Amino acid sequence: MPRRRKFHYLTRSLKKQYTTRKNLMRPKVIAGNWKMNKDLLETEGLINDLKRTVNFELGSAKVLLCPPFTSLSLAKKSIEGTPFLLGAQNMHYMDEGAYTGEISPKMLLSAGCQYVILGHSERRQIFGETNELINKKAKKALSVGLIPIICIGETLEEREKNITEQIVSVQIKGVLKDISSQDVEKCIMAYEPVWAIGTGKNATPQQAEDVHKFIRKLIGQLYSWNTAEKVVIQYGGSVKPENAGDLLLQPNIDGALVGGACLKADSFTAIIKAALR
Ligand code: PGA
Repeated sequence: MPRRRKFHYLTRSLKKQYTTRKNLMRPKVIAGNWKMNKDLLETEGLINDLKRTVNFELGSAKVLLCPPFTSLSLAKKSIEGTPFLLGAQNMHYMDEGAYTGEISPKMLLSAGCQYVILGHSERRQIFGETNELINKKAKKALSVGLIPIICIGETLEEREKNITEQIVSVQIKGVLKDISSQDVEKCIMAYEPVWAIGTGKNATPQQAEDVHKFIRKLIGQLYSWNTAEKVVIQYGGSVKPENAGDLLLQPNIDGALVGGACLKADSFTAIIKAALR
């Protein structure tokens, strides 16, 4: 019996160490992807509302606002003195040039961005972005000091064919190609099952955790376990105040990429609160 007690004690102590280490290494990151919503007046309105509702300490958690390009400068001014951080929703991989309609990483930096969402499924599906292009963008973002939030995820058809892991694996190997482990540790991966985006139908916490665990294992195989342990993996797809708590409790879910529910201060704030629990 004493033996078992000792073993029990050791297990608990190791568990505690592991949890503490994990928490230290991976902060919860909640990002609001505003998509093509909010003009300047609405941007100011939403940020003012958020300043009122997010009236609590964030601790180690990070909260990012990713408005449209036209709102970035205004958002940067409006969030001064708050813990909110700024991100963009896309960028080109060149510094400048004849690329009509595109935005360069340099422009994002000068607008005050620290993060950039890359390879969102809407960019992949509507604008034909490939893993190769997203990889170019990710490398460029890292080279200028922007943190990429790299999106991956399967379609409903792929999930029903039971090939989620194959799809996610091809996407990860493609988007991270030739990126060093040092740089991969800085990246945020966002697992967003396409069938859950904007549909109101979220992956269950277990479904999401299974894929997040797979992603971490794969990064561990491609790099090292130490690297995999440091990578923040967000879940995205119909995250709402009602499901955020259970999703964010999963050991491999380190945050959320929120679409619809980030457009109102109350629902976004409730999701941020869920991340702090
Ligand atoms: P949703 O969008 O929360 O509206 O499903 C998430 C996303 O597309 O990033």
